[in-house]
Amino acid sequence: MKAKTVKGNWSWRTKKFALPSVFLICIFFFLAGFFGSSLFSHSKGDLYGVRPRPRLLESTTAEADNYLLPAGETGDDSITSIPFQVLSWKPRALYFPKFASAEQCESIIDIAKAGLKPSTLALRKGETEVNTKGIRTSSGVFLSASDDKSGTLDVIEEKIARATKIPRINGEAFNILRYEIGQKYNSHYDAFNPSEYGPQKSQRLASFLLYLTDVEEGGETMFPFEDGQNMDGSYNYEECVGLRVRPRQGDGLLFYSLFHNGTIDPTSLHGSCPVIKGEKWVATKWIRDQEQYD
Ligand SMILES: *[C@@H]1O[C@H](CO)[C@@H](O)[C@H](O)[C@H]1NC(C)=O
Repeated sequence: MKAKTVKGNWSWRTKKFALPSVFLICIFFFLAGFFGSSLFSHSKGDLYGVRPRPRLLESTTAEADNYLLPAGETGDDSITSIPFQVLSWKPRALYFPKFASAEQCESIIDIAKAGLKPSTLALRKGETEVNTKGIRTSSGVFLSASDDKSGTLDVIEEKIARATKIPRINGEAFNILRYEIGQKYNSHYDAFNPSEYGPQKSQRLASFLLYLTDVEEGGETMFPFEDGQNMDGSYNYEECVGLRVRPRQGDGLLFYSLFHNGTIDPTSLHGSCPVIKGEKWVATKWIRDQEQYD
């Protein structure tokens, strides 16, 4: 009985009184919501109309146009621009046109000429100098930036660190190589696979090649496995196939041998095609995952 009374009471109110008020209340909330929201989005617009500052370091007014910030203790007070082209993601390979000037290249060749010796290989189990003859036929010399009194290698090394964002201390000394007609380097990995070379305390992470000369014909840097091609097991390591980069004086080529998880990128296999005409000079910087004290 009690329930019935309440129900009856409620339906009376609905009919005689509540229905128009509910209608009015609805209109009120609709209008309030409508204007309220446009008001809110307006104030939001004002707030974000000003470009949000991406960092806590703030531009000084004089430099505001190019977003220059007063840098941290170890940073730069200028903006570096090093143009590059992504040649491939598999492997991660980047091309740096006009990385060095012709004068810088000639100067590096001049100091390297004095110390040239036949290039050597890191040998795997069972390999000897005799049975690996012919895999790498160039001549070369290792030079530290400090060996170059002209300061050129110092400038180049600094620039490589900026381009790679890997500190200079992780780099090996430059290996300056000369390939004469017929000379080449069969396809290989710069990283040392622990299953072939044993455990590695320090691994080659990336390689930066600076071409010191043009080559009239041949001498390309090749990546036979680029984008997974030629990986069916049939590839012969002397074959010059896949993605090939023709050397041009002053241009740089950077590629990474390791994935970010530290394992070797199988597509980073690369080699130097035989020089057919002319002479190829290249400065190689191998960059390690550990600090390197040569
Ligand atoms: C490492 O990373 C590569 C690329 O992302 C991936 O293909 C591979 O499976 C990873 N290896 C391990 C052991 O995590």
